Amino acid sequence: MISIALVSPSRLYDIRRRVLRDNRPEANVRDPRDEEADAIHVAAIHHDAVVGSGSVYPSTWPLPEPMGLTYQLRYLAVDPEFQRRGIGEKLMSRVESEITARGAYALWANGRDSALSFYTATGWSIVPASAHLSTETQLPHHVIVKRLSR
Ligand SMILES: CC(C)(COP(=O)(O)OP(=O)(O)OC[C@H]1O[C@@H](n2cnc3c(N)ncnc32)[C@H](O)[C@@H]1OP(=O)(O)O)[C@@H](O)C(=O)NCCC(=O)NCCS
Repeated sequence: MISIALVSPSRLYDIRRRVLRDNRPEANVRDPRDEEADAIHVAAIHHDAVVGSGSVYPSTWPLPEPMGLTYQLRYLAVDPEFQRRGIGEKLMSRVESEITARGAYALWANGRDSALSFYTATGWSIVPASAHLSTETQLPHHVIVKRLSR
């Protein structure tokens, strides 16, 4: 049985390191915005263990069109042995309901190319000509966006 809960950011550092930073002990898994009052952190919990994570921060919309309140998604991760069971979708659904309740219009992210199938399957769009390498991981990414129905 998996539950989705709001948690403090420190509960997510371990899964961020394991799933997103090859478990490297020296990797920085804290975000400077983690402790800000308007950051939101969600976890998927299985028998008290965190098996999924996602964090969102209010952030400037990356496209030229005017947009109201928007959030940036970071650190979406599901433990490999729990992937393809709908947990990523459940984490995002909770994120979207939390930020919609706070008045948000849209979400954006720098999405890893290896995860774009997940994002496009769950309603995100890839911004054309947005391919880039992450400065943190050197992995290929695209800017992705999801407008919320309100
Ligand atoms: C991306 C990630 C969070 C998705 O989590 P997940 O729990 O496995 O995803 P879900 O089970 O909710 O998938 C929902 C749908 O997305 C699509 N999808 C997910 N993973 C996919 C994959 N590897 N290939 C193709 N489609 C995929 C499918 O349509 C899936 O529905 P289905 O299983 O019924 O076909 C997870 O794969 C992960 O942690 N990857 C490694 C870390 C990472 O890249 N994070 C993103 C950083 S930007």
